[in-house]
Amino acid sequence: MCGIVAYIGHREAYPVILKGLKRLEYRGYDSSGVALINNGLRVFKKQGKVAELEETLVGKDLHANIGIGHTRWATHGEPCDRNAHPHVSRSGKLAMIHNGIIENYMQLKQDLVKKGYEFTSDTDTEVLLNFIDDIHSNNGGELEEAIRIALKRVVGAYVIVVIDEDHPDTLIAARKGSPLVIGIGKGEHFLASDASPIIEYTKEVVYVNDYELAIIKSDELILKNLGNEKITPFITKLDMELAAIEKGGYDHFMLKEIFEQPNTIFDCLRGRLDAANGSITMSGIQQYAEQLTTASRIIIIACGTSWHAGLIAEYIFEEVTRIPVEVEYASEFRYRNPIVNKGDVIIAISQSGETADTLVAIESAKEKGAIILGVVNVVGSSIARTSHAGAYTHAGPEIGVASTKAFTAQLAVLTMMALKIGYLKGTLPEKRYMHLLTELNDVPEKVGAALLNKENIERIALKYKDATDALFLGRGYNFPVALEGALKLKEISYIHAEGYPAAEMKHGPIALVDNKLPVFFVATKDSFHEKVLSNMQEIKARKGKIIAIVSEGDDAANSLADDLIVVPYADELIAPIINAIPMQLIAYYIGVAKGYDVDKPRNLAKSVTVE
Ligand code: F6R
Repeated sequence: MCGIVAYIGHREAYPVILKGLKRLEYRGYDSSGVALINNGLRVFKKQGKVAELEETLVGKDLHANIGIGHTRWATHGEPCDRNAHPHVSRSGKLAMIHNGIIENYMQLKQDLVKKGYEFTSDTDTEVLLNFIDDIHSNNGGELEEAIRIALKRVVGAYVIVVIDEDHPDTLIAARKGSPLVIGIGKGEHFLASDASPIIEYTKEVVYVNDYELAIIKSDELILKNLGNEKITPFITKLDMELAAIEKGGYDHFMLKEIFEQPNTIFDCLRGRLDAANGSITMSGIQQYAEQLTTASRIIIIACGTSWHAGLIAEYIFEEVTRIPVEVEYASEFRYRNPIVNKGDVIIAISQSGETADTLVAIESAKEKGAIILGVVNVVGSSIARTSHAGAYTHAGPEIGVASTKAFTAQLAVLTMMALKIGYLKGTLPEKRYMHLLTELNDVPEKVGAALLNKENIERIALKYKDATDALFLGRGYNFPVALEGALKLKEISYIHAEGYPAAEMKHGPIALVDNKLPVFFVATKDSFHEKVLSNMQEIKARKGKIIAIVSEGDDAANSLADDLIVVPYADELIAPIINAIPMQLIAYYIGVAKGYDVDKPRNLAKSVTVE
């Protein structure tokens, strides 16, 4: 949450920062701002999206070769100009951007108020900045020393970047818990929350680690720990192309990412799955094969859509490996003193690799001796680096705030993991194993075929766009798909939606059914099919509107459903990957029909780096 960008070098800083903020807007978009130094410090901030800031700055003198910028997802204080970053210190000389939360800010604020400090915003950021300012003005000396002292007293998570009017040749940045990437150019440096603002200028980056401080000039990068010892920066080459973070002719990133799925799933399987020869190559899993095949349980930790992928994985793992699986919300797991024993296997699923709850949950499980396997999309992210091993999902940058292609890639990776472990363990018979490998291999093509239905899905979306509520029902492997369908609809179209196991509906939610309520059934052919059809009958008897997602060639639901969405048939264990597609498209088309910003739904942010 919150995106930060900074630049120092020979270019104009403002255009670099502005473009970077637009790329990072998925991280938060309730206000934005920039601070530049050229003959003094100048700060501009505005409530609303980055484009609104840009508009107010047209015609202003923005010349500078050093600057910082921020796009905000509000934590402390409502979204407004005053609470937008950058914040300026009492001395008027320092400006700072911050991503994270300072938990002990109230205590620090009270101390500063006693010293006569006044605050113009409600933010924890302004408190931290003035805390630094206070130490700096009392101690004199280097600003970096004041920052180090302050950060040792701070509880919470942060990436900060500070500039000082008196030292227009230096940026100082520090990180704990929130992401920071530094791009290294020729006589210039770029700082950002992720690599997307940097990729067009350089592919050489340094991922800053927790408790590290970076002192950056145009042609120099010094990394230190909080003990003031120098650290050698580890330079990584970015494996990402600019085209991957552009819309490429689509109206929205969300649509582009939905349509990319045949390729992203293919990329995810490529080099790993060899259906003809019956092999799955996953070095991270191979490395822990012994522990995985003998594990007495597996705990899956994730949030949101990634948690739904975890629920589907629970069904698959239990079926093919016979290992009991628990799927935990990271936010609950981390706070309830969970029982984690040495050697327990934990799978952390995260698109961003930066979700604070998931990160902290695996850190504490790791301390207790658990083996952490990460299923992560963003290469080099904190969760990927904290995990002992794992598998990247290779879905490419996901810019739309609602997760789509990352979800299906997570399912592809988790399925491969389960099949590999089940086969190694001997709980998955060879014939079934070979069949499932072929089925998995066919997924990209079947996803492509499911996408061909877009016109029918758009028609259905338009028919139900004015609904105030919706139910999503499914059983077995398709129950979490129903949960995901409901979540997508809520976040993109702001229609209240609930997902349930289809049979559970009789225990309460059926009271909601009337002749206006759309009920989406994920009813593809599987072992629960007959039962799902009975549940459909129950909804029909109460005059609910039934939209059924059914397998090609299966007409059992034709007489019950008001609308049908046909998808290619796949084995029930594989089908969720394909069934997710109509769920995503329904949400997308309804959101667009209602005129909403589907790439940046209200109140959301892509990378939830606060708890
Ligand atoms: C919903 C969505 C969120 C994320 C959740 C976890 O469309 O994207 O629910 O799935 O915030 O994020 P990651 O996967 O980055 O840990």
